[in-house]
Amino acid sequence: MRIAVLKERAAGESRVAATPETVKKFSALGAKVAVESGAGEGASISDEAYREAGAELGSADAVTKGADIVLAVQAPDPAALKGAAKGAWVAATFDPFGNRARVDAYAKAGLEGLAMEFMPRITRAQSMDVLSSQSNLAGYKAVIAAADTYGRAFPMMMTAAGTITAARVFVMGVGVAGLQAIATAKRLGAQVSATDVRSATKEQIQSLGAKPIFVENVAGIEGEGSGGYATEMSEEYQKAQAELVSSHIAKQDIVITTALIPGRAAPRLITDAQIATMKPGSVIFDLAVAQGGNVEGSVPDQVVEKHGVKIIGYTNTATLLAADASALFARNLYNFLSAFWDAEQGKPVLDEEIGDAVRLTRGGEVVNERIKG
Ligand code: NAI
Repeated sequence: MRIAVLKERAAGESRVAATPETVKKFSALGAKVAVESGAGEGASISDEAYREAGAELGSADAVTKGADIVLAVQAPDPAALKGAAKGAWVAATFDPFGNRARVDAYAKAGLEGLAMEFMPRITRAQSMDVLSSQSNLAGYKAVIAAADTYGRAFPMMMTAAGTITAARVFVMGVGVAGLQAIATAKRLGAQVSATDVRSATKEQIQSLGAKPIFVENVAGIEGEGSGGYATEMSEEYQKAQAELVSSHIAKQDIVITTALIPGRAAPRLITDAQIATMKPGSVIFDLAVAQGGNVEGSVPDQVVEKHGVKIIGYTNTATLLAADASALFARNLYNFLSAFWDAEQGKPVLDEEIGDAVRLTRGGEVVNERIKG
């Protein structure tokens, strides 16, 4: 069993899919791990550290040659995997809805693509879930980046020269990233409020000491879709939400938006007209910018200014914390593959529930129910 780890090729991607810790653990299972030289550079991991952990270091072609499993953060171009074993597995994020061409190319190449973002939201898969581990860090970093861009302090400060008031932070979308954004903003001393369409989040917001801002008295506001994800909301709900947000947003200094609906464009939560009501110097961080954005006018990988408000739109926020993000991503991959490790066969054998959920391609075909057709 040969596992290959390549240096990430996507622009701005600093993470790596294995760390010396996971190399050691895979080796203990009997696998041989080969890492491309320089793969850990962006995450501050030296070739030497991988070597000491038992990895073989080499060029991309050398490490891929004969690989049974390729680990990556972002699925590589299948053309780069020509030397891999027939039907090799590639465990990585694929953005299957946004990049269908890559899925088709994997099928054509006869590779078995395993999309980590399709990991089912079930208790036993929690430790394998890259969306959670990376969103958590992204939520933290969004607040830090917003605080850095904001020309004022977050906490209330009483000084001899006068009092500085606490910043008001509003978090829209309270999933994994949103909860961490609330916790981080609270730690920095801000006055925090938050909203979501899933009513279950109300209690979570309160337990973090923030104020829930919720649409009330509109039918069907449960908002909970399958697997813990949100669904698209009714027109009536969207109108009520827009009114609520309009009155609240004008008083906010920082807004962090994280709202996503799987397989759909991100819901539009803030319009240009609403931005115009905010105070000059306010900051918005749109964590959904890669999926079309929650905020009108946010631009991927840019900080733009509208009506005196700075709008930050990084498409890959977790990569800004490459060392931690890589450590968690690598553990997610190890937890996934090791949970299915068959000692006799010396390789992982996936079960139906998780295997069918994450497997995109097999035997030259696209096989995943969520994207077939
Ligand atoms: P997500 O990234 O898909 O969406 C972020 C948040 O935006 C969600 O809370 C969603 O309800 C909210 N949202 C969607 N449309 C909105 C709108 N129009 N207005 C306001 N908010 C809107 O969600 P994420 O962070 O991946 O997690 C969602 C839930 O799944 C959480 O409760 C989380 O704890 C759970 N989860 C469970 C896992 C497991 O059991 N293995 C793993 C990961 C998450």
